[in-house]
This record gives sequence, C-alpha cells and structure tokens, in this order.
Amino acid sequence: MKIAVIGTGYVGLTTALLFAEFGHDVLAVDVDEEKVNTINKGESPIYEPGADELLKKHIGKNLRATTSYDIEDRDIVFICVGTPSKPDGSMETKYLESASEAIGEKLRKGMIVVVKSTVVPGTTENLVLPILERKSGLKAGEFGLAMNPEFLREGLAIYDTFHPDRIVIGEFDKRTGDILEELYRPLEAPILRTSIKVAEMIKYASNAFLATKISFANEIANICERLGIDVYEVMKGVGMDHRISPHFLNAGAGFGGSCFPKDVKALISLAKNLGYEPHLLEDVLKINDYQPRHLVELAEAHYGDLKGAKVAVLGLSFKPDTDDIRETRAAIIVEELLKRGAEVIGYDPKAMANFRKLFPSIKYASGADEAVKNADIVIIQADWEEFKNMNFDAYPNLKLVVDGRRTVKPERVKYVTIGRGD
Ligand code: UGA
Repeated sequence: MKIAVIGTGYVGLTTALLFAEFGHDVLAVDVDEEKVNTINKGESPIYEPGADELLKKHIGKNLRATTSYDIEDRDIVFICVGTPSKPDGSMETKYLESASEAIGEKLRKGMIVVVKSTVVPGTTENLVLPILERKSGLKAGEFGLAMNPEFLREGLAIYDTFHPDRIVIGEFDKRTGDILEELYRPLEAPILRTSIKVAEMIKYASNAFLATKISFANEIANICERLGIDVYEVMKGVGMDHRISPHFLNAGAGFGGSCFPKDVKALISLAKNLGYEPHLLEDVLKINDYQPRHLVELAEAHYGDLKGAKVAVLGLSFKPDTDDIRETRAAIIVEELLKRGAEVIGYDPKAMANFRKLFPSIKYASGADEAVKNADIVIIQADWEEFKNMNFDAYPNLKLVVDGRRTVKPERVKYVTIGRGD
C-alpha cells in the first residue's frame, strides 16, 4: 500500500517505521524542514531506542520524508500531528486543522484518512471530517475515515508499536475498518472495531486511568508515610490481585510527559464543557502536582534549611531513556529548591540541552559523578540506569539522598524516599 504519515513526532515516526517494516511504501510529511532532512539522512529526530536502525534500513528505499503534501497517490493518510494543551487545559487543534486542510486539498475518492493524534471525543467527526469535506468537495464515505489511537510509551515507542496489547479502529465506514484491520494483521494483536467517538474516548480513558493509578499509589504513599510503613510493600500486595495488576503503582515524584498531564487536563476541560464536574480527575492532577514538592519538603525535613545548600538533581527528563522534558517533575523540584535559596546542579544523560532552555541559570554537570561530588544533597527524579550503579557512599561531602523513584540504596549516606515515613 502507499501510505502517508503526517507529522514525525513519536507517533508519526514509529507509525512510518512500522508500515515501512511491513513492506509498504511510506511517505512521512512534516512542516519542519530540519526534521525532514534529519530523517532523510537516516537519523531519528528524537531519541528513541531502535529508531535509527529501522530508519537506516528503510530510508531511500520504501520510506522518505518531505515537507510537501505530495499525497495524491496515497491509499491511506495517517494524521499524527501534536495536540498540545492550551493555557486553559483544553486541546489545541491548530495543527490538526492545518493538516486536515492540506489533506483535504489532495483528497480523492477511495482514499482513507486516519486520525492517530490523540483527540478529544467528537474531534474527528466535528472538526476533521467537515474540513476534509469542505476542502475536497467529497462526502465522507466517498473517502474513508477512521480514528486509530496509539498506546505507545516514549523510550519504548518502537517496542510498543510492534507489540501492542490491542489495536483500536474507530471507523466511519466498514470498508475503511476492513482495510485497516488487514493492514495491522501482521502484528497478531487483538483488534477492537468501534465507532470513531468510542475510539477517541478509549485513548483518553486509558491514559486517565493509568494517571489515576499513579496518583492513587501516591496518595496511599502519603498515608503510609504517616503510618511508618512502606507503600512499595503495600502495593506489591495490592498489585497481586489480577483485577488490579502490579503496573503503574509505583509511588514517587509523580507523572510527567507529553501525555498524562495533557490528556487528563483535556478530559477535565471536555467534562466541564459538557456540564459535568470531574472531581476524581482534578484530584489526580492535584496529587501529581504535590508529589515533587513533597520531595523537596522531605529534603528540608531531613537536612534543615536549604538556603545555600548544594543540591544535585539527577534525571531531568520526565522519565528515563528519553530527552523529553515536557511536564517533567524535575522542573517543579528545581523551582521549589530555587525558592528556598538552594544552589542547584542538574544532570541528565540525554535531556540537559532541553532542560537548560527552561532553566538557563542553574549549574549543569557533565556527568553524574561531577554533579554528586560537590553536592550536600542528591534528589533523584528519573531512574536512569546509570544512577542505579552509582556508589553514593563514596562521596564524603554528600549528606542526604532523596529518592523520587525508589532506585538506589546507599548505606552510609542518609537515604529518604517517598512513602515510607523516613
Ligand atoms: C503514556 C502511556 O503509558 C502510553 O500508553 C500512552 O500511549 C502515552 O502516554 C501517550 O498517550 O502517548 P509515556 O508518557 O511515554 O506513555 O510514559 P509512561 O511510561 O507511561 O510514564 C509517564 C509518567 O508516569 C512518567 O513520568 C513516569 O515516571 C510516571 N510513572 C509511571 C510513575 O510515576 N509511576 C508508575 O508506576 C509509572
């Protein structure tokens, strides 16, 4: 098949690589010329394990990137553009609108348009569909339309794309559903066919549920602290119930990234617009905002006044194995430390350049060792593998390790973590 993928972020890039690997002819379209040039050189514009290898295998053969919408000959066009939050938490649709307009101009009978971007329920039918119809002069049904959410995790994007738990196809018309089912068949994953709006909601409800699990674990952690018992032991027992599962119950600094915070906010905004007050979802965000602040409170409680204290923050990305700093809990930790007059030294294996744009005036170390060597306190925000192998006891100046991810176990240095009542 001839496939186009619009947008080359995490979703677009991995979708393009998946279908290229299946032997289809894939065109990746992005307005960002620099990204397009990078892809055409066989290099991934984002740090994602496995992406470079697959790109090198297919680029110039059955995969190429371009800035122009040369999609006239495509059978299927996947929309994978970003849908960030607006300042009020609602979804920004401008990229989706411009992509739909550009596709609409090239649309012909029989072509299939698939929305893969995360969009609030109603968006595909109320926004994308009318633009496609207006620009093309065709009626939906003459062209195919579907909503096909993705469930990949950053850092594991390639693995998740090739090993999904399920494929959800929200279809406008049966022919489109049949063709997409056939396209995904080689993955041998369960396929769920639904209406478009149900597919859109499955994505939001899944992310909101995972975010709720994390905030739930954090709430229990904060209660456990007061009881002097360990939330990790508690959650081990809780997660053994097959109805609950052990995943996403790790208490700590809270969830960051480009998805959970944004999607929960968008769902809250949607609910309110529909006249419903989503109390649970609002508290999920409140707890999540408190957790990184609580780490700094713990540092203060166990060290004393943080004014002038040298604090190394390890892990600036929102989680390990990515350079993505969107909604990273490290930003809140650094803000709170600066407010208290601490001297902050940041270190991250991949995300330093991005974090520097947010906080240009804190110090940055060229390695974890350099960061810790001169620190009074270490706060671990993201559990990168290299931190797990460090010997914190070997640093004579270090007085306290505050662990936001339950990742290390020093013996000599005082160790404090969330959810134990240290
Ligand atoms: C998340 C979902 O896991 C994917 O299924 C979804 O497709 C994706 O959002 C998306 O909508 O695009 P991602 O944001 O890449 O993926 O990262 P996760 O691995 O889910 O982690 C999110 C945050 O939760 C991280 O900050 C992580 O540290 C935190 N987390 C995760 C916890 O605090 N505790 C846990 O038990 C698990």
